[in-house]
Amino acid sequence: MPEIRFRSGESIPLELHKVRIVQKLDLVPIERRAEAMAEAGFNTFLLKNKDIYLDMLTDSGVNAMSDRQLAAMMVADDSYAGSKTFTRLTDKLTEIFGTEYFLPAHQGRAAENIIAMTFVKPGCIIPMNYHFTTTKAHITRLGGTVEELVADEGVKITSDHPFKGNFDLDRLEALLKEKHDIIPFMRIEAGTNLIGGQPLSLANIEAAADIAHRYGVLTVLDASLLQDNLYFIKTREEAAKDLSLREITKRISDKMDIIYFSARKLGFARGGGISIHDKELYLRMRELVPMFEGFLTYGGMSVREMEAMAVGLEETMDIDVISQGPLFIKYMTEELIKRGVPVVTPPGGLGCHLDATRFIPHVKQEEYPAGALAAAVYIAGSVRGMERGTISEQREPDGSEHLAAVELLRLALPRRVFTLSQVMYAVDRISWLYEHRDLIGGLRFIEEPSSLRFFFGRLEPVSPWPQRIVEAFRKDFGDSL
Ligand code: F0G
Repeated sequence: MPEIRFRSGESIPLELHKVRIVQKLDLVPIERRAEAMAEAGFNTFLLKNKDIYLDMLTDSGVNAMSDRQLAAMMVADDSYAGSKTFTRLTDKLTEIFGTEYFLPAHQGRAAENIIAMTFVKPGCIIPMNYHFTTTKAHITRLGGTVEELVADEGVKITSDHPFKGNFDLDRLEALLKEKHDIIPFMRIEAGTNLIGGQPLSLANIEAAADIAHRYGVLTVLDASLLQDNLYFIKTREEAAKDLSLREITKRISDKMDIIYFSARKLGFARGGGISIHDKELYLRMRELVPMFEGFLTYGGMSVREMEAMAVGLEETMDIDVISQGPLFIKYMTEELIKRGVPVVTPPGGLGCHLDATRFIPHVKQEEYPAGALAAAVYIAGSVRGMERGTISEQREPDGSEHLAAVELLRLALPRRVFTLSQVMYAVDRISWLYEHRDLIGGLRFIEEPSSLRFFFGRLEPVSPWPQRIVEAFRKDFGDSL
């Protein structure tokens, strides 16, 4: 997808695909949205799709498939063991990553479970640039701890650093030097989900992997968001601009001992798995697949998903395909900046991230600004995002709140799903809300599960602020939806 310039000088991302299958959407009036939000306990996970216009909750398993992916799903070879589909998928992974072995799993976190069960022992440390929720849960469940080594720039909300997912290599070296005997592997998340889909540079990935290997520590790549990271390396890293996407991918995979991914993201399909260079490492993990996932030639996935994934991985090597997400996110982020809305910069992959701390500074962190903003954005525009703040954290063992380092509202842009007019609609409603930000108030829990409270918890507004948003909307927009 090229970024083209109009005569006026304005740039827009231009789709190099056409839409041939569509799904009807509903846009319900704001009064119904306020009601639906209350029914969902002010938790966007609990909303029903019939009440949602733009579902920006996640990019996981909801990306548009290509005609070639759909066609491949029709010729899948459905057999329990030894299917041709599995061979096609492993051949594609070998071609792209140069890895000889592949263990299939039903999704990314299942791959994390297999890796953690094989390597994590009580007391061990797993260094990584940044954690992801499911990754950390698997490691801590088995008695390990996560050590985050992202460079300081990574947690700054606004920055012009092109690679905010980079490791602080000095801290990595110091940690490995001192503790390498209790570090079974280091994990590299490219791109980095929880800090706004921010990428690492090729130079940083290679340098981090070299440090790990110098201390005899295995390197594990979480490639779930690799397609966005490849795009950023190609377009933001001077030393990589003449490399093809295949060459960049190969340079990265050559430094990795293990590569795992969620195919709900990488490959625009569903499922996941683990690619491995070394036979001994493969054998150490292999028996967990039939025990927890399914036989070795499907691992809990349907053959149709595997066919779609093989084609999706091939299409990931095409810059016109993988640029769509980052360019739409950049467009949305820049349009919001023009209207003064506080966002995470530079734009990353996965989605556009609003900074709730600056959006509604009057809502104190104990009243969940990111959760309140998620509810307000839904009410104002029927746009569903995901809270990435204190609600997503777990309470401390003594019951006190663990206040998150950042309070973000993630508005994911599933790949090739939304049009630019839909993005502009979201920008319009969010910027309207920003002008009426004083109306937004906080939330408090009325039902709080002890674990994974962000999925199941129910909250209520601390004052009748949702009603005030409905009234202001009607005043400004008349009877428009
Ligand atoms: N690693 C990263 C970087 C992810 O973003 C995810 C999922 C996983 C692992 C786990 O993969 O969902 O297939 O089990 N991220 C989703 C999200 C859930 O909405 O960001 P999974």
